[in-house]
Amino acid sequence: MNVIAFLGSPRKDGNTEILLKEVIRGIEDSGYDVKTFDLNSMNIEPCQDCGGCDETGECIIHDDMDDVYEAIRTADRIILASPIFFFALSAQTKKMIDRCQCLWCEKYILKKPVSGGKFGRKGLLLLVGGMKKEIGARCSESCAQAFFRTISVPEHSTLSFLGVDKKGEILNHPTALQEAYSEGKRLVE
Ligand SMILES: Cc1cc2nc3c(=O)[nH]c(=O)nc-3n(C[C@H](O)[C@H](O)[C@H](O)COP(=O)(O)O)c2cc1C
Repeated sequence: MNVIAFLGSPRKDGNTEILLKEVIRGIEDSGYDVKTFDLNSMNIEPCQDCGGCDETGECIIHDDMDDVYEAIRTADRIILASPIFFFALSAQTKKMIDRCQCLWCEKYILKKPVSGGKFGRKGLLLLVGGMKKEIGARCSESCAQAFFRTISVPEHSTLSFLGVDKKGEILNHPTALQEAYSEGKRLVE
């Protein structure tokens, strides 16, 4: 099974990364490797809405997204991990998502959705927010859902932790790490 993960936090060893590592540990203990894309360190231009992909389904910008498109097309499981910034996904995450407009064109205009392999395609959304307000998780969930459906991931689960703000604070959460580990195992069952 081919598993990929997007880390959308710029904070090294921050809450999102800690959680993602636990999910990955669960997946690896089940016998699968995970390829992680650290979005903050990647060269990804924002979508220019140039229309260049309308008729081809291919982006005309060539940068680190070239590898991402290939990974998205061939993945059986896709994990999106982001902190909540201003009631939404982080800019690092959103920039990658917007560049999937070419996959939107391919699916909805050219009628060629990414096909699922023998394991089907499933997603997992990981969210961490410093505030206890639900609205950030709701807005992030809507955007992530649009992303997953665009890349032909018909179902995803979500694990979100709110009120977790300081770097590494997730380590003090009573259940988060165990939940993340179990979710990783469940994703590849
Ligand atoms: C630019 C910025 C905007 C933020 N906006 C929100 C927000 O709208 N809602 C929220 O719950 N937390 C917000 N936070 C707090 C982060 O979500 C929180 O610190 C989280 O634990 C960061 O995860 P990380 O350690 O993986 O980066 C914001 C933090 C930053 C830096």
